[in-house]
Amino acid sequence: MVIREAKAEDWPAIWLILKEEGNAGETLTWDPARTEARARAGWMREPPGRTFVAVDDGGNVIGSADTHPVHPGPGAHVANAGFVVHPARRGEGVGRALCRHVLDQARADGYRAMQFNAVVETNTSAIRLWRSFGFQVLATIPQAFRHPTHGYVGLHIMYRTL
Ligand SMILES: CC(C)(COP(=O)(O)OP(=O)(O)OC[C@H]1O[C@@H](n2cnc3c(N)ncnc32)[C@H](O)[C@@H]1OP(=O)(O)O)[C@@H](O)C(=O)NCCC(=O)NCCS
Repeated sequence: MVIREAKAEDWPAIWLILKEEGNAGETLTWDPARTEARARAGWMREPPGRTFVAVDDGGNVIGSADTHPVHPGPGAHVANAGFVVHPARRGEGVGRALCRHVLDQARADGYRAMQFNAVVETNTSAIRLWRSFGFQVLATIPQAFRHPTHGYVGLHIMYRTL
């Protein structure tokens, strides 16, 4: 597997993964009515944002991450990031490799910290992964996410310095 910057031709594969995960409604604050064009604009980042893909030995896109400043101007030294791995390829270390890459690149780009704004509190495998990289839960917005089976659950804001 390699992790590299995403190219325009990677988008169709990223879109399939994102759409399936978003429409499942369990982990992402995703509007099912979101058009492909809007989703693309939100994921395929312009500089200083970046978008990465994880590509397996057969050349298949099996995961992706995006990163960008949480806020513009005086807030631009804190990065945000998003991650998605193909459902059939989870638990193979793709998410861990993407997170490590994103953190290293963010540090190299001069960010001072990374903040995740909306980690669904029932997404325990993701939370365990982020904690293993030193992220901590700063706050939980109560009942901020409507989960299809658990009902209203909290959204964690997770943070670590770089
Ligand atoms: C979160 C996500 C990106 C992790 O990607 P992944 O490729 O499955 O993660 P990894 O294989 O690197 O696993 C990371 C750790 O989580 C554990 N893990 C992964 N999937 C798990 C699962 N379903 N149940 C329990 N533990 C799991 C692994 O044991 C691993 O720990 P280890 O490295 O110490 O062995 C992926 O599950 C995903 O795309 N989820 C849907 C979208 C999402 O939740 N995005 C993040 C929103 S905050």
